[in-house]
Amino acid sequence: MESSLPAETLDQRQSSIDIDAKNFREAGHQLIDEIADFLSSIRDYPITAAPTPGMVRAKLPDTMPLAGTGAVSLLEESWKLLAENSLLNGHPRFWGYITSSPAPIGMLGDLLASAINSNCGAFVLSPMATEIEKQTIQWLGELIGYPAGAGIMVSGGNVANFIGFLAARKAKANWDIRKLGLGPQQGKWRIYTSAETHTWINKAADLFGLGLDAIRWIPIDADQKMNISVLEEKIVEDKEKWLIPLLVVGTAGSVGTGVVDPLKQIAVICKKHDCWFHVDGAYGGFAAALPELKELFQGIELADSIAIDPHKWLYSPLEVGCTLVKNASALTDAFSFHPVYYNFESKEEERTNFYESGFQNSRGFRALKVWLGLRQLGAEGHVKLIREDIALAQRAFQLMSSHEEIETFTQHLSITTFRYKPAGIDGKYGQEYLNKLNQSLLDRLQTGGEVFPSNAVLNGNFLLRICIVNFRTRLCDLETLLDVVTKQGKLIHEQMQKGAAFASE
Ligand SMILES: Cc1ncc(COP(=O)(O)O)c(C=O)c1O
Repeated sequence: MESSLPAETLDQRQSSIDIDAKNFREAGHQLIDEIADFLSSIRDYPITAAPTPGMVRAKLPDTMPLAGTGAVSLLEESWKLLAENSLLNGHPRFWGYITSSPAPIGMLGDLLASAINSNCGAFVLSPMATEIEKQTIQWLGELIGYPAGAGIMVSGGNVANFIGFLAARKAKANWDIRKLGLGPQQGKWRIYTSAETHTWINKAADLFGLGLDAIRWIPIDADQKMNISVLEEKIVEDKEKWLIPLLVVGTAGSVGTGVVDPLKQIAVICKKHDCWFHVDGAYGGFAAALPELKELFQGIELADSIAIDPHKWLYSPLEVGCTLVKNASALTDAFSFHPVYYNFESKEEERTNFYESGFQNSRGFRALKVWLGLRQLGAEGHVKLIREDIALAQRAFQLMSSHEEIETFTQHLSITTFRYKPAGIDGKYGQEYLNKLNQSLLDRLQTGGEVFPSNAVLNGNFLLRICIVNFRTRLCDLETLLDVVTKQGKLIHEQMQKGAAFASE
């Protein structure tokens, strides 16, 4: 076939997407300077300007450009767009949901990973990156005291849990599930998890063919842990009905309140009833590295699989999660295929080809930012930071408890829950009023730019919640939180009372 372009054109090809060294340096230095200034003054920024979608859209180009823009000015403009219209989870007073401040070494790690652009699907495409990923997986297991046979880095907690779920599904099927699908056991498998479990379990039951009705929601006891007696009762009940208990999920740090389920007892029940034991340690798993919390996390080492999330409490920039499995072949058993178009095997030395251990085929080098963080701080450095986050959350609980306008509820790991309750109103305003007040208060706090908590709901009470996975937070930030909550809470209470008086006139 004849080429559609003349040979001279192709020979003198100049790629306009490439940036020459001079311009690359200029663009890069300028961007790094902006980021360095931003990081050193992040405390002075509002956490968010809370723009509306329309306000944000108005700042973007109206149409796709036909001609290009120079890299230096483009990056400068993009920096401004993002710095001025983002929620800054690296701010010392950001404690919403569970997203950590990103460690600067991880930012540079992502740049380095992109520059080499290793495809971590196969060893031959990413020799050093693959071995670094393997080492990172091994170190993460060691850090939390989990004897991992294998593992894989993924995009985050949800996917890390999905991988554990699918490894369980394959391991527990006594037929060729990869060929036949759920066929023989359609509608029979059951999974057991506490009512506090993150929504990944709903997605997994739905996506992977078991259906939502396969989930047995085990109630929590007074301290929000999975009720173990009910767990065993339900398993026995199901077996009597010829249903098949597939997997039990124990949560090591619940998303709402940070509670750790009784992992050891769950492990014993799983062994007795031949269930897969999966631990969701996406939030709290890394706290198992603290010697003083060994007892709380006892049993984590017995899990068949565990999800941990370096982009939460290891302070890696988004995205990076990790699944660890006990049995070295559990992931390849569930995911491996060998297409003819890959020449990835070697007769000499065994190679790890990560495309055989998970969903993805082409894979980025997520492990680098985690590996750099582990090397920059060491295990001890991470233990210190996590310990300080927990101590700050405990301090927050103490501070709030001794304030007459704050009611405290729970304190587990680095999560503290509380609500604003006007002084001297006992019996006068019920749950509905306080829920409304605290919902309005949360809206105001999340848009005010000074502090950023999120919420939890406990026994029908709408609570404010801080989750400190933030190496920039200091005690003075918690004092600011107390000031802002009480000031804004009082204002909203007064407005609500005025509104009520107005309505009754
Ligand atoms: C306990 C738990 N599991 C899973 C997840 C999901 O993690 P990701 O948002 O990284 O997918 C979260 C998120 O907060 C979580 O707290």
